[in-house]
Amino acid sequence: MTDMQGKTGLIVGVANKRSIAWAIAQAAAAAGARLAITYQGERLEENVRELAAGLADPLIMPLDVTSDAQIASVFEEIDRTFGGLDFVVHGAAFAPREELAAPFVQTSRDGFRMSLDISAYSLIALARGAMPLMERRGGGSIVTLTYLGSERVFQNYNVMGVAKAALEATVRYLAADLGAKNIRVNAISAGPIKTLAASGIGGFSSILQVYRDRAPLRRTVDTSEVADAAMFLLGPGGRAVTAEVLMVDGGYHATGM
Ligand SMILES: NC(=O)c1ccc[n+]([C@@H]2O[C@H](COP(=O)([O-])OP(=O)(O)OC[C@H]3O[C@@H](n4cnc5c(N)ncnc54)[C@H](O)[C@@H]3O)[C@@H](O)[C@H]2O)c1
Repeated sequence: MTDMQGKTGLIVGVANKRSIAWAIAQAAAAAGARLAITYQGERLEENVRELAAGLADPLIMPLDVTSDAQIASVFEEIDRTFGGLDFVVHGAAFAPREELAAPFVQTSRDGFRMSLDISAYSLIALARGAMPLMERRGGGSIVTLTYLGSERVFQNYNVMGVAKAALEATVRYLAADLGAKNIRVNAISAGPIKTLAASGIGGFSSILQVYRDRAPLRRTVDTSEVADAAMFLLGPGGRAVTAEVLMVDGGYHATGM
């Protein structure tokens, strides 16, 4: 098991117990890491505080990734409390519901802007905030979450597929930019999992069934399996891995027909 004793991490994207980011938080905490966990708006605060109550001395803060001011306060608070940062998990994504239902050609300028801002640009903003805190630790690891809809067309994934393509390119550019500081940047491309975010995608259950039928492992994946892969990328096992999109999808990405 990855040892994270003495490490500190920031986890963004916990909405409830089904969140992929929450599974990663639990795995990192079990490995000994001390965590800062953020919640998006008051609506989710109680959920996140209840979940985090079982962790050892967590730092819990509000963060809407569209707010530069909130991003700045998150890193100020982490600096004050932890004095540095070893890893960041970025699990924030959003597209307006109507953009996931209408034909792709109807994607609005506002919907496009909002989806790419929250789901892709936010990784750049968080990496910039984390950079000086990670430099102080001699390096760090940043992991984001993506989906195969970045490369292939999935019905109703629409503008989120475009946002994930931008996110994966962002991973490569950040990795190149921050590599000299020993900061690694990677993505996990997870197979479909029933979460709050997934509930916005029409026909999601049929996507799950296609994976059960056709993925080499003939099943879907669960959040703890994504968390195990994240632990590899966040921990010493992944120390030579950067600019990578690691597929954790039962092998579905390799299938043709
Ligand atoms: N569930 C899947 O099938 C699946 C598959 C591959 C990748 N992913 C990706 O995994 C990540 C986590 O999603 P999930 O499936 O765990 O769902 P989730 O709904 O539990 O997590 C999405 C998170 O994004 C946060 N978020 C949205 N807008 C935000 C904003 N403006 N500021 C801060 N946070 C914001 C939400 O609060 C929520 O915590 C997402 O990037 C998603 O695209 C999910």
